[in-house]
Amino acid sequence: MPLLEIKGVSFQVGAAKILDDLCLSVEEAEVHALLGTNGTGKSTLAYLIAGCEGYRPTAGSILFDGRAIHTSKIHERAQLGITMAWQEPVRFEGISVAQYLTLKNRALDPAPYLEMAGLQPARYLTRMVDRSLSGGERKRIELASILALRPRLAIFDEPDSGIDMLSLRDIINVINACKENGSAVLLITHREEIALIADRASQICRGGIVCSGSPEKVAAYYKSRQCLTCDTEGCADGRP
Ligand SMILES: Nc1ncnc2c1ncn2[C@@H]1O[C@H](COP(=O)(O)OP(=O)(O)O)[C@@H](O)[C@H]1O
Ligand SMILES: [Mg+2]
Repeated sequence: MPLLEIKGVSFQVGAAKILDDLCLSVEEAEVHALLGTNGTGKSTLAYLIAGCEGYRPTAGSILFDGRAIHTSKIHERAQLGITMAWQEPVRFEGISVAQYLTLKNRALDPAPYLEMAGLQPARYLTRMVDRSLSGGERKRIELASILALRPRLAIFDEPDSGIDMLSLRDIINVINACKENGSAVLLITHREEIALIADRASQICRGGIVCSGSPEKVAAYYKSRQCLTCDTEGCADGRP
């Protein structure tokens, strides 16, 4: 049984069908890349999986560990072990980095998680989470907090986006640390070189999956049909 199973999910807002009969599964401890150009529905899918306010499938179901979760609230899904890295960095202010990393588990030693995210514990543990941290530092602290949670499923939505871009090496380190923790990862990206670090990949186009398989296969397909021409010439895969 897959850890996460998305079965025929559609999401419609007014007349706009943002996701249309989308199917995707993520296995236990698997890194699965979701590859697609801008506006194809990647973040929307992430919000539907996490259970964000206002995001409930208009058709289809989402199963986690075999049980339907698509009507559960965001905190119920968090309790099951679904965690999402937001596109914008930490919004928590006024507490120390050490406190931030141990919000859920006071007994945890936060140092190794900071290190995995590329920050020296000695320099950062006592710093306050505030504007004195750069965008890149905040991003790393947030990644460390996700590692410290040891979720069953971590969703990373374009982990390289933002003001201070993280390098491919940083992202590989964090994803590998997740895997070593035993977490499954849904790695959302528009860059095929990032998808290549996954165990399996799927390409999304116009709200549906058009290609699934090894990252090499999906990346090659993505490069050949980036769907960049979709808007002017119609979808190469015949999606409406
Ligand atoms: N709540 C919403 N209402 C209307 N349109 C939306 C809503 N959320 C997203 N969209 C549209 O759906 C499409 C997919 O958006 P998104 O999931 O953010 O794409 P991606 O993350 O792949 O860039 C975009 O065209 C976006 O404008
Ligand atoms: Mg997005």
